[in-house]
Amino acid sequence: MRLESMHSLYVERLRDMRDAENQILKALPKMIERVHHAELRVALEHHLEETRQQVSRLDLIFDELDESPRGTKCKGMAGVLEEADELANENGDPSVLDAAIIDAAQHVEHYEIAGYGAVKTFAGLLGYDKHETLLETSLNEEKKADETLTDLAERSINLDALQGAEREVRRAAQLADRPRTESDRPPERRPFFGDEDRRY
Ligand SMILES: [Fe+2]
Repeated sequence: MRLESMHSLYVERLRDMRDAENQILKALPKMIERVHHAELRVALEHHLEETRQQVSRLDLIFDELDESPRGTKCKGMAGVLEEADELANENGDPSVLDAAIIDAAQHVEHYEIAGYGAVKTFAGLLGYDKHETLLETSLNEEKKADETLTDLAERSINLDALQGAEREVRRAAQLADRPRTESDRPPERRPFFGDEDRRY
């Protein structure tokens, strides 16, 4: 890859964004399967649909540039999604897992916000006004998705997770501290049938 002009950098970064979006299209359905909270599921499903439209916008730009959209692997998004996959596949309290999924999804969103911010600026600089508008639409969708996740986390899921985790700690403490009761005593050995006969 040779970056001899802002135009070549623009095309290269667009390819990176398109590969990143395609990776998200594969990863997001698996993440959605692991979600417990209904509103979080709806938000991620909505963003999955937006992601399809974002790929279409990028394809439109590649058509206009008469450039191939292929040839670049977004290693950054691969890393972010690998970590997201590990988090989403942990076991534990459902609300804590949902909080983890939000954390992972927001890493994805912030990565994309950085990417779309850069290519939108390049498009404006190079005089591609239509591209700039298309990329700004995607950028705003990413920002809105991020805000929705923040709102869900702060309003509900993080609080549920905190309460769920505290409940578990209290339950464990209660089990450890409770006084011994009759039911804790091992069962007495009942006389084996025939034991009494041996007394005679
Ligand atoms: Fe996206």
